[in-house]
Amino acid sequence: MSQGSADKHEVVVRRIPAVGTRELRHRVLWPHKPSPDVCVIDIDEAPGALHLGAFVAGEVPWGIEVPGFEGRLVGACSLFDQHCNRVAVPWAEGRDVRLRVMGTLPEVRGWGAGAAIVRQAAEEVRAQGRDVLWCDAREVAFGFYERMGFVFLNDTYNIPDIGPHRTMALDLSSPPHLNL
Ligand SMILES: CC(C)(COP(=O)(O)OP(=O)(O)OC[C@H]1O[C@@H](n2cnc3c(N)ncnc32)[C@H](O)[C@@H]1OP(=O)(O)O)[C@@H](O)C(=O)NCCC(=O)NCCS
Repeated sequence: MSQGSADKHEVVVRRIPAVGTRELRHRVLWPHKPSPDVCVIDIDEAPGALHLGAFVAGEVPWGIEVPGFEGRLVGACSLFDQHCNRVAVPWAEGRDVRLRVMGTLPEVRGWGAGAAIVRQAAEEVRAQGRDVLWCDAREVAFGFYERMGFVFLNDTYNIPDIGPHRTMALDLSSPPHLNL
């Protein structure tokens, strides 16, 4: 469990079931899709897949209720056991975890929820004995991922319906030795 910036608002990150991410995916990442019910990824339940949710205390009206969890969901991401093969990478298969569908509600941007999710994701990667967290980042989030320590691995490419992306990675090896 990871805590966010308590100086602004307390954010707690927990593992949640995949179904708990759908409303957030719809609102934040895939508003062009017809409903939250279709905001699924075919590997959501695959071995190694796990889903993290950032919660704030209380029942803020714009927060998302997740049955079985206290507070309201304000951010989420999913982690998948997928090797980065979009580009040639300086680490072996089995050492990396893919971060996908990362987002926070517009109402909490700047509260530290995104950072708390990345910190917890990094803990999950380390707990698996792995040392790289990678993602295909949207252009609007480049600055966020850089702030979190990710580096770019390629030039911009386009994903239909979504826009420009670049692949980014966070070196969690200690001491860092991947030369990212
Ligand atoms: C990108 C996103 C997840 C950031 O979430 P957030 O909750 O605002 O992030 P935080 O409040 O934890 O910010 C952590 C730090 O990153 C900085 N930051 C956040 N977004 C940033 C951006 N777009 N560019 C530069 N810096 C950014 C914050 O200022 C903060 O810096 P600080 O530590 O100096 O205060 C959120 O803006 C979002 O969901 N965007 C839309 C969906 C999206 O693009 N997701 C990524 C898909 S790849």
